[in-house]
Amino acid sequence: MNILLLGSGGRESALAYKISRSPLCDKLFIAPGNGGTGAYGTNIILKPTDFEAVDAVVDREKIDLLVVGNEDPLVAGIRDFFAERRPGLLIVGPGADGAALEGSKDFAKQFMTEMGIPTAAYRSFTSDTLAEGEDFLATLEPPYVLKADGLAAGKGVLIVDTLEEARKELREMLSGMFGAASATVVIEQFLSGIECSVFVLTDGNGGYRVLPVAKDYKRIGEGDTGPNTGGMGAVSPVVFADDEFMAKVDERIIRPTLRGLRERGIDYRGFIFLGLINVKGEPMVIEYNVRMGDPETEAVMLRVASDLVPALVGAAKGDLGDTELRHDSRAAVTVMAVSGGYPGSYSKGKEITGLDAVDSDVTVPFHAGTAVNTDGRLVTSGGRVIAFSSLGDTVEQALERSFKAVNAVDFDGKYFRRDIGADLLNYKK
Ligand code: AMP
Ligand code: GLY
Repeated sequence: MNILLLGSGGRESALAYKISRSPLCDKLFIAPGNGGTGAYGTNIILKPTDFEAVDAVVDREKIDLLVVGNEDPLVAGIRDFFAERRPGLLIVGPGADGAALEGSKDFAKQFMTEMGIPTAAYRSFTSDTLAEGEDFLATLEPPYVLKADGLAAGKGVLIVDTLEEARKELREMLSGMFGAASATVVIEQFLSGIECSVFVLTDGNGGYRVLPVAKDYKRIGEGDTGPNTGGMGAVSPVVFADDEFMAKVDERIIRPTLRGLRERGIDYRGFIFLGLINVKGEPMVIEYNVRMGDPETEAVMLRVASDLVPALVGAAKGDLGDTELRHDSRAAVTVMAVSGGYPGSYSKGKEITGLDAVDSDVTVPFHAGTAVNTDGRLVTSGGRVIAFSSLGDTVEQALERSFKAVNAVDFDGKYFRRDIGADLLNYKK
């Protein structure tokens, strides 16, 4: 079959890598892709939210399966568009109704509350209820968590230490700090614990598969300091996500989530990303996303032992049946090399050298922000540049392999965190 994958990050590189290895995949197209995805298929330059442009490719390349990597086209209704335009096209990713789990934090919190899914206590406010919001903040203990309701490119969550600051941020958010995304602000209780990412692929009819669990590292600085980034690395498996913890996740979170979607008439066929926090052994939901995580996918795909395409097709068709999705028992990690200055301003177009020195038997350098220049040279084109992903018999061995690779590759301003996985290696129950 012919498959079109939308997106351009490290996540899409890892999905493209995995899909391209399937005997069921005849032709793979990645739109727009990046400087590395050409190794797995054909890049096509377009904007994934330009549905007419996507449709033209589906038509021209006789696409059977559309896999949507990033959230923007989902929240904008790409499934709904194609349900009308091409009812026969198989699509991995929910409609706009299901995508609201990520597109509206207020919707997600209300959904969890109604379904009894463990999550932080919260209330939502708009400019009409600003005074109530300020009063509500005074009833909470610091630190204060304020979230823009809508999509804000991963920047819409503020965690501040003082009541005064929290009130100021609330006023600023409601007066347009994140544009329309912060016209509604969710204020919630701060939860203390260690986070992990659980990925579920579901067919909308009660069938689902859980992928390997991963943990990502969001802050730019070692020891989890400094501003948030898209993610600086990932590790899978996660030591505390043992059978007992995962049984709680299944019973208290995954099943009620899928039941809640069906009860609301939401036919959810695609990935659900549960951003969880382990609060003294009890899983609670920090957020839902309606796609795979980045950089978690760059580690997780290495640990999916089965062919992924039958599972993607099963989910898209609404019937996973007995499709298997086996996990590799080995460990996988990703170490992200980023541009100097990221997540603030950084320059692009820096030549990337040394990729030939990476041992391709043990490490896959998944491209994220890379591009091929007009003169054929590989250059940086984004904040997160390459996700060095390795398998190993242990997390330590996988880390050693990824660090060796990231040290072998160079570009002006290269930065990476040397402490990826350190917290899990030192984890005590
Ligand atoms: P979100 O975009 O909702 O995942 O939030 C971004 C990050 O903020 C999360 O990954 C957490 O590290 C942190 N965070 C969000 N909500 C809470 C909360 N209620 N308590 C503690 N940390 C939180
Ligand atoms: N790694 C977190 C995310 O993809 O949102």
